[in-house]
Amino acid sequence: MSETKNTWKDKLYETDNPLIEVEELDLDYQTAKGCVNALSHINFSIHRGEFITVLGPSGCGKSTLLKILAGFIKPTKGSAKLEGKQIKGTDWSRGVVFQNPPLYEWFSVRQNIAFGPKMRKIAKEEYEPKVEEYLQKVGLTEFGEKKIYELSGGMKQRVSIARALINKPEILLMDEPFGALDAFTRENMQELIRKIWWQSGKTIFFITHDVEEALLLGSRVLVLSRHPGEIVDDIQVNFSRKIVEEGISDIQFSEKFYHTRERLLKLIHAQYDR
Ligand SMILES: Nc1ncnc2c1ncn2[C@@H]1O[C@H](COP(=O)(O)OP(=O)(O)OP(=O)(O)O)[C@@H](O)[C@H]1O
Ligand SMILES: [Mg+2]
Repeated sequence: MSETKNTWKDKLYETDNPLIEVEELDLDYQTAKGCVNALSHINFSIHRGEFITVLGPSGCGKSTLLKILAGFIKPTKGSAKLEGKQIKGTDWSRGVVFQNPPLYEWFSVRQNIAFGPKMRKIAKEEYEPKVEEYLQKVGLTEFGEKKIYELSGGMKQRVSIARALINKPEILLMDEPFGALDAFTRENMQELIRKIWWQSGKTIFFITHDVEEALLLGSRVLVLSRHPGEIVDDIQVNFSRKIVEEGISDIQFSEKFYHTRERLLKLIHAQYDR
């Protein structure tokens, strides 16, 4: 899909070195029953400011790919690099958000958001205003003193996003973060993450199994084939951008959106039929 390329953001993509580079990546899991090949011949790069949404049939290796980018596991073959350096383990430059956020249930929202800066031994005077800033960014200012177990699913996800962002990660890695939320909360959360992306220029890698969500959020959609996953489509889209830039709220009813969604749905269904 050719999109207009005339803003500072697009030009930046063209000139900037990739933030992430994945080359000829394979991942095998060793299990009691033998070797499971989860990913095969994966090649792609991500530029700063891109919002990548990742689609693919269940079990195709989406979470595995995210875990490699997060540094939880290492590729069996090939490489995954951040700013030209091999990703060797976890660090604060990559923030991770899961479907069920692993938060400290008995701690307050503020204490959870302050966790990263505290661990990094940042002075209290320095991180406290940041905690307030991120509380506000995710719309939780009034809930700062609530304990996590007192929050709804959507609120927990807001805490989880703030907790990742406060560490100023180069990239935010999100694994079906809104998958467990009801439709209304989910829409609110989509709006929030779109706004955060647009205002901060943060690079985001976002896994979803919902084609519409992928199109409403991403600036680029990657589609993985059935297990073992290979990339079978990689398209740039501008629906998300049109929503934030031009305030178009009903873009999913446009012809272009309809056709793109159909194309992706067909491709994903074809994976199940393979
Ligand atoms: N720790 C593990 N040990 C062995 N096999 C694993 C492990 N984790 C994942 N797998 C296998 O690797 C393949 C890819 O799994 P992965 O969780 O990455 O898929 P996914 O695309 O995220 O699926 P879903 O959409 O259901 O979340 C699957 O066949 C899965 O069973
Ligand atoms: Mg998964």
